[in-house]
Amino acid sequence: MAGFLVHAFLLQLIGIAILAAASDTRALLSLKNGVGDPSRSLESWNASTPSCQWQGVLCSLHGRVASLSLQNSELRGSFPIEFLTRCSGLRRLDLSQNQISGSISGASFGDGGCESLQWLDLSGNDLAGAIPPELLTASPASSCVGEQLQGIVPPALGNCTNLTIALLSYNNLHGAIPPDISRLQNLWWLSLSSNRLTGKIPPSLGELQTIVVLQLGNNSLEGDVPLELSKCKNLIMLDLSANQLTGTVPSRMELTSLIVLTLSYNNLTGGIPGELSSMQNLYKLDLAHNFLAGPIPESVGQLKNVQVLDLSENFLSGRIPDSIAGLTFLFNFNVSYNRLSGMIPQKGQLTTFQSSSFEGNPGLYGFPLSNIRPRDSPALSVEEHHSDDGYREELLAGVPCFIISFLVATTATILLTRASQVQKVLSLRR
Ligand SMILES: *[C@@H]1O[C@H](CO)[C@@H](O)[C@H](O)[C@H]1NC(C)=O
Ligand SMILES: *[C@@H]1O[C@H](CO)[C@@H](O)[C@H](O)[C@H]1NC(C)=O
Ligand SMILES: *[C@@H]1O[C@H](CO)[C@@H](O)[C@H](O)[C@H]1NC(C)=O
Ligand SMILES: *[C@@H]1O[C@H](CO)[C@@H](O)[C@H](O)[C@H]1NC(C)=O
Ligand SMILES: *[C@@H]1O[C@H](CO)[C@@H](O)[C@H](O)[C@H]1NC(C)=O
Ligand SMILES: *[C@@H]1O[C@H](CO)[C@@H](O)[C@H](O)[C@H]1NC(C)=O
Repeated sequence: MAGFLVHAFLLQLIGIAILAAASDTRALLSLKNGVGDPSRSLESWNASTPSCQWQGVLCSLHGRVASLSLQNSELRGSFPIEFLTRCSGLRRLDLSQNQISGSISGASFGDGGCESLQWLDLSGNDLAGAIPPELLTASPASSCVGEQLQGIVPPALGNCTNLTIALLSYNNLHGAIPPDISRLQNLWWLSLSSNRLTGKIPPSLGELQTIVVLQLGNNSLEGDVPLELSKCKNLIMLDLSANQLTGTVPSRMELTSLIVLTLSYNNLTGGIPGELSSMQNLYKLDLAHNFLAGPIPESVGQLKNVQVLDLSENFLSGRIPDSIAGLTFLFNFNVSYNRLSGMIPQKGQLTTFQSSSFEGNPGLYGFPLSNIRPRDSPALSVEEHHSDDGYREELLAGVPCFIISFLVATTATILLTRASQVQKVLSLRR
């Protein structure tokens, strides 16, 4: 009797699996029928072969469609969003670099969900509409949120709580970033760059405890850089560049894991906080094209791993701190178009850059700029005369130093290729 029950139970399980697999096949075929496929990328998708053998499809051991990769396949037409809910076993969907259009916020759906979805890459398409807050939440309250937003929100992506990677960059998404995004407690990579997003950066992003890469660049976001982001202790890359952000660079952003911090092309004011030096893993610090004023803090010289330091096109004044000369890995340095003055410290890494790294600072002089101190230089302090005395010595010492630092830099570049490959992958996948 017991044996019979177990048997029946197993048969039932197998039956369910077969039904689910058949429903996956139907969902895939409806996807095929719904999109334009001029280069016949989906030619192998026909009912005479099992769907697990179709181009771009990978199945789980249970025969469910687990992964669909159709990146760069010249697919066009409107986004088959219901596919996500019909293929409930889907863990990875990559439709990036196609010409898929339409709104991701305007469809209606049947049962099912996307609890399994972990990797969603829709970047480089032509998707429009608002980001469905329901992409982000499985809470029972979400239907109320939907009503408040007058039905523009589909329940489609409602249960995607296991999403770890959501790449929606290079589309036409507009509206604000839904604060509820913080409910995606498994998210580690979120890219919304190069859309038309407006409004403030929700402070609730600070509750994304698992987030490692956060890319919001090239939108029209305004308001402050929320200090709450400093709660994202796992952040390695934070890109908020090319927005309309105002306020200051938060001084208490103790994100010690951060490798890339890009706040360039915004309207940030105030000074460069010396506390940034606590980010000891920083590889790239880009604050260019803002309205930052005041001196470059001496403590920038404590960013021992920094390789790219771009402070150009701001209103920074005072001298270039000597400490920067000691940043052995620095290979891309730019302080052009500021109000810096005095002599460029003639030592270490600072002797390896071209004049375009320093140009546009009327008070700045010394190699690689002219050696002649500008007559109308605003800062002709006693201190300056002192450093001027040591100028010739430093210049002579600078020659072997240049060669040594070149060797060090070359070795470092080879050693750190891995780091820059990571960086390359990240910037390609923006
Ligand atoms: C289905 O695809 C296979 C190749 O994957 C092809 O040989 C076959 O002709 C196709 N059948 C139909 C009906 O298109
Ligand atoms: C979320 O999952 C629940 C239970 O699995 C289901 O009843 C509901 O319809 C799903 N919601 C969406 C929007 O798919
Ligand atoms: C998704 O997350 C829920 C908890 O939110 C968990 O119970 C479930 O097993 C996860 N599903 C998958 C397929 O990872
Ligand atoms: C910025 O976003 C727009 C679309 O909003 C896109 O056309 C442009 O290429 C993006 N710029 C960069 C530098 O990525
Ligand atoms: C940012 O600065 C630009 C250039 O000065 C200005 O046109 C724009 O209105 C400013 N935006 C905000 C939000 O302050
Ligand atoms: C430094 O920045 C300025 C302005 O942003 C740019 O014109 C120049 O090419 C840059 N120089 C280097 C070496 O990156």
